Amino acid sequence: MSTESTCHLAGILEIFASNSIFKQYEIMFKDSFKFYKAKWPIPDFSDVLDFNDNTTKGIVEFGLDVDSIYEAVMPGLKPVYSWKCYEITDRPGLIFIRNPFTPQGQRYWMTRCVRDYPKRPNVVNLNAKLFPQTVIDDWWSCYQNCSDKDDKRRMKVAMRWTTLGYHHDWDSKHYSERMKNKFPDDLAQLSEYFSKALRLGKYSAEAAIVNYYPIGTTLAGHTDHSESDLEAPLFSFSFGQTAIFLIGGTTKEEKPSALFLRSGDVVVMAKQSRLCYHAVPRVMKANIENWNEFPIKRDVPLEPPNPKKLKCDIDLPTTDDWQLDTKLFENCADENFWSPFRQFVNDSRININVRQVLKEGQESL
Ligand code: OGA
Ligand code: MN
Repeated sequence: MSTESTCHLAGILEIFASNSIFKQYEIMFKDSFKFYKAKWPIPDFSDVLDFNDNTTKGIVEFGLDVDSIYEAVMPGLKPVYSWKCYEITDRPGLIFIRNPFTPQGQRYWMTRCVRDYPKRPNVVNLNAKLFPQTVIDDWWSCYQNCSDKDDKRRMKVAMRWTTLGYHHDWDSKHYSERMKNKFPDDLAQLSEYFSKALRLGKYSAEAAIVNYYPIGTTLAGHTDHSESDLEAPLFSFSFGQTAIFLIGGTTKEEKPSALFLRSGDVVVMAKQSRLCYHAVPRVMKANIENWNEFPIKRDVPLEPPNPKKLKCDIDLPTTDDWQLDTKLFENCADENFWSPFRQFVNDSRININVRQVLKEGQESL
């Protein structure tokens, strides 16, 4: 073989090699997704980051500077000084807070998500060809009043999402002023509270997607980039059954990290992680129903660790200013009231995904 053709062959081999490496990378996110989605055999979960297990490697707990915030404990949340906050070494900008909700608080948000948020004028995924307008307008009432077992099942599994505030147009992938309703005050306040506690700055919750995941359903890999403000963090609240969440890089060629999201867990996609690929390849039965652990165990001392150090430097609402539906909050501790919601969440996960759409100072789209 001549020197020239050897060189040529080497060149081809090099292209081939780099191409196959490229291909191997290209399917990395998909590979993990398929791996964790598999029904049988049940995948090995040993690489899934578990924030409930203190032997988990690759995660770092960090403390919050909570001198001021402790006084204003938002109903349904544990005091901020007791929150367990983590970062993932390989995923800068991503924050994980291990269930900062009380059982009553979890029940409140789950009830809002199934009973109230899917109501008109909010937008739901239900197809008008498959369901009458009454169902599309007030799905939970119809679901409760439905006596036919099969119809009820059909109504339950069909409900996959509702949007609040600016409604995301899934075809054009845009938000617009024409597709907008009032954002719920309680959820806006919850998001603002987290932003302040985590020192992430002023936050204005303007759009949310509430996702409903019957066990066995998934959410494919994607990035959330339709917002005008791509710097404001994304807040994600998980309730009910357990998920495996994948968080990768800014391209699908990067192998993602997998983590367990359990009821009450909060994920914040801030800074470098804001535009990263993520997915939910699996929703599975939770080992512990922490939302049903009543009466509330006082596992948190009511006094902060060092009361002398307290100073008030940020303006949090006083206890009179909470935007929660107080009647509903009280009802959530009543097992009779809770019973239909308990049934709903027995085989479902709920995720509230909150975004700021407008940049600071921007008044409209
Ligand atoms: C979303 C999303 C993740 C989850 O709604 O955009 O990424 O944990 N949800 O359900
Ligand atoms: Mn998303």
